[in-house]
Amino acid sequence: MTTSLPLLNADDVLEALRGLRAKQPVKFWAFYSSQLGGVVTDPALMVLPFDDHMVHRGHGIFDTAGIVGGKIYDLDAHLDRFIASAERSKLRLPGTRDQMRDIIISTAAASGKRDGGIRYWLSSGPGSLELSPAAGAEPGFFVMIFAGLSYPERWYTEGLRVMTTTYPIKPPLYAITKSTNYLPNVLMQMEAKAAGLDNGVFIDANGFVGESSNMNVAFVTQDGVFRHPKFDHILSGCTSKRLLELAPALQGRGLIRGVEVCDIPVADARAAREMMLIGSSIKVAPIVEWDKAPIHDGKPGPVTRALFGLLEEDMRSGRGRLIDLP
Ligand SMILES: Cc1ncc(COP(=O)(O)O)c(C=O)c1O
Repeated sequence: MTTSLPLLNADDVLEALRGLRAKQPVKFWAFYSSQLGGVVTDPALMVLPFDDHMVHRGHGIFDTAGIVGGKIYDLDAHLDRFIASAERSKLRLPGTRDQMRDIIISTAAASGKRDGGIRYWLSSGPGSLELSPAAGAEPGFFVMIFAGLSYPERWYTEGLRVMTTTYPIKPPLYAITKSTNYLPNVLMQMEAKAAGLDNGVFIDANGFVGESSNMNVAFVTQDGVFRHPKFDHILSGCTSKRLLELAPALQGRGLIRGVEVCDIPVADARAAREMMLIGSSIKVAPIVEWDKAPIHDGKPGPVTRALFGLLEEDMRSGRGRLIDLP
């Protein structure tokens, strides 16, 4: 027996797309597509052609930024990383940096929201099902304004429980590039959830701590040093980079003795006084258990809390890092 499939016209497709969204409501507020040449606010219309190479070959990159109280936080640091990812991925930019920045800001303004998340992608474009970009393909640029990722309050009050993932870390070139190939990151998070835990941690082939699914990992040593893994084999987290600049203020408050970016052997990491996750969506959250063993006394620590405070303050008042939404 063969299934008889309907042949759909444009109206049928639109109805089906709306039906999908009705079944699965999303908080996506505005979407810019260079392929459409403008912004849509109906989530059913936030689509890409299937032959775009970002869809069927993963030849695309992305980055993020947050909207806080009507301002975009730290967009320029994220755009720098976006452009570096594009260069490594041999993706042509759709225009100048200023033009992309302007489109991101205008899409955020079109959403009418004062708090939320921004994600933007660059694809090598449509035109074939081959590997290399199709002849005449124009790069695709997409911007999504959405509610942002949210995490359980418990993560901040009680702390997270994590496991070392059984999945191998990406080789450095792919780990430092924010491409749309997140399969290892997805599998790591699913593995942790299946084990009743909150997330995973990658360890590299030399036994050094890497990062988590979409967050960096950092530590406070028993003698009070805020220690972060080097960025040569993990994503250069904009939040971590900023916190490394802000953290010395905690020395003055007697909370830490110093700041260090270095290779961190797993055994040293397990002996830490504090362990935390850092990223633009999670901000700073304590890890209290790793591979079933408590970190120090198994309670959220004061440095993690203080770093969270420094970041929140920077997001509201950071000089030169905030862009007013028109
Ligand atoms: C793999 C990975 N590591 C770390 C981070 C944290 O980076 P950021 O602070 O720029 O959000 C992210 C999130 O973008 C990520 O996807």
